[in-house]
Amino acid sequence: MPYRLYLCTGPRCAARATGTYEALENALWEAGLLGAVELRFSGCQDRCDHGPNLLVQPGDRRYASVTPQRAAAIVEELVSNNDPG
Ligand code: FES
Repeated sequence: MPYRLYLCTGPRCAARATGTYEALENALWEAGLLGAVELRFSGCQDRCDHGPNLLVQPGDRRYASVTPQRAAAIVEELVSNNDPG
């Protein structure tokens, strides 16, 4: 089942997420997943103190403090743990 990644663009996350979307996109491209994984934006995910936040569907997996530096590691974890549940 393909993953969908929702990067929060609520005001508090957006203020700290400069470059995160691009880093995730690059990491997906490098993993050969750019066409297979949907990278989307979301509104506030109600975890503002821990942003930038990323929600992975299916599975409701959440990542906090998603900086550009962490993007590759997150994508790598999704690839290695192909069980979204
Ligand atoms: S602004 Fe991202 S969780 Fe609220």
